[in-house]
Amino acid sequence: MSPRPFKIEPCRGKLGVLLPGMGAITSTVIAGIELHKKGLGHLAGSVTQLQRIRLGKRYENRRPLIREFVPLQKVEDLVFGGWDIFPDDVYRAALKAGVLPEERLRPVAQTLSSIRPMPGVFDQGYVKNLQGTHVKTGKSKMHMAEQLMRDIETFKKENGLSRVVMVWCGSTEILPERSRVHEDLASLERGLKESDPAIPPSMIYAYAAVKMGLPYANGAPNLSGDVPAMLELANATGSPIIGKDFKTGQTLMKTIISPGLHSRMLGLNGWYSTNILGNRDGEVLADPGSFKTKETSKMSVLDTILEPELYPDLYGKVVHKVRIDYYPPRGDAKEGWDNIDIFGWMDMPMQIKINFLCRDSILAAPIVLDLALFMDLAKRSGMRGIQEWLSFYFKSPQCREDLLPEHNLFIQHLKLKNTLRILMGEEVLDHSGLDYYDPERGVPIPAPAAASEKKKARAKAGSR
Ligand SMILES: NC(=O)c1ccc[n+]([C@@H]2O[C@H](COP(=O)([O-])OP(=O)(O)OC[C@H]3O[C@@H](n4cnc5c(N)ncnc54)[C@H](O)[C@@H]3O)[C@@H](O)[C@H]2O)c1
Repeated sequence: MSPRPFKIEPCRGKLGVLLPGMGAITSTVIAGIELHKKGLGHLAGSVTQLQRIRLGKRYENRRPLIREFVPLQKVEDLVFGGWDIFPDDVYRAALKAGVLPEERLRPVAQTLSSIRPMPGVFDQGYVKNLQGTHVKTGKSKMHMAEQLMRDIETFKKENGLSRVVMVWCGSTEILPERSRVHEDLASLERGLKESDPAIPPSMIYAYAAVKMGLPYANGAPNLSGDVPAMLELANATGSPIIGKDFKTGQTLMKTIISPGLHSRMLGLNGWYSTNILGNRDGEVLADPGSFKTKETSKMSVLDTILEPELYPDLYGKVVHKVRIDYYPPRGDAKEGWDNIDIFGWMDMPMQIKINFLCRDSILAAPIVLDLALFMDLAKRSGMRGIQEWLSFYFKSPQCREDLLPEHNLFIQHLKLKNTLRILMGEEVLDHSGLDYYDPERGVPIPAPAAASEKKKARAKAGSR
């Protein structure tokens, strides 16, 4: 049976997308959208723009594009802005990041140069390898949050926007210890006023967004919106929240391969992953504190997919190692190697080697676009708090504290599509296929249209 559709506010006016951190990913997102508007590039990797969704029974042949099935903001009506701790405009940031070559950027250079970051909220204690020069000052962390809220208001007014979403694309911070200040809203607000050291800059941005009822997505592994205090606030203001850490590159591969091994009950002895990358993200991750945050995010994936507690013989002794080396000559063109030691029938060992020459920001840019559009959809649908259906996009998907996160990319994909079906009042698909066969007679159940065609033909033959 089809569920009742959600009441979804239509997309009126323009949607603002605010991105704290205007480095490699942000400049690649904005450049890509601007190039696309001129017909100069495909939005490959974007589910919202390119993917179709199957509706109803297979014989109905209903497969609309997702962007035509659910009411999403058109990419032409997005307005981008953001903050950074360096004053480079988006064109300069794109040139420095070197993700898209200069000749690809030239047609949109003027537009990109006109987008300048607002001064950021920064604390070098949380990102050791950066020394920001374009930063806000204030009496307290609450004072910083208030300045961010004023920035959001001004951005909205100056660009004539009807709604705004925020997606964190700033650097990876050192993880603060979870403390009392994160546990409830009153403590968090007191902590902001008293500039509690356990509140990192990314949490100040998250607070400003959620306080104003904006959807907030977190592309880094930072704690940011993933604390009970922020969920309490999101519940009060009606903000959708999701994080953490965009799923690109090696972890994307891990969550594609490991569900396959697990579903065929092939054993795993070890998974060794190493990367070289030379962009600013790599520089930040060269600091052991920031790397620790990233490592925790990357490591959690295998355990939840393989369920070693349920399958100790197959996955109880997995050696999992992750290395990231900052190697400037590679810039954003990261290279990852995976050595996967598996075993099969009679414990016979086998190996899989992956050498992924990927471009992280090219994989991350469509995620930012999809999240901005889906988070806005969630907000217009009255959904608030954790948006687990968007786990698909994250290395460490946020979920209720008493649940394990879902890491399997294919289950995450089903979750996403079934949520869209639920929002629109369409039947949720279980993909069992049982509904096409008569269970007692084992024969196919004819499709309604085919059945009525047959009936008509029979009636016609009878009347002859
Ligand atoms: N590139 C990927 O595929 C990928 C994948 C998963 C997660 N991430 C995460 O996404 C984030 C962005 O990645 P990137 O490759 O664009 O990195 P980047 O270093 O090119 O850009 C990050 C930007 O954030 C700015 N910044 C740092 N602290 C800030 C603050 N407090 N306020 C405002 N700006 C601040 C930096 O100056 C920099 O310009 C990183 O945390 C990274 O770990 C990236």
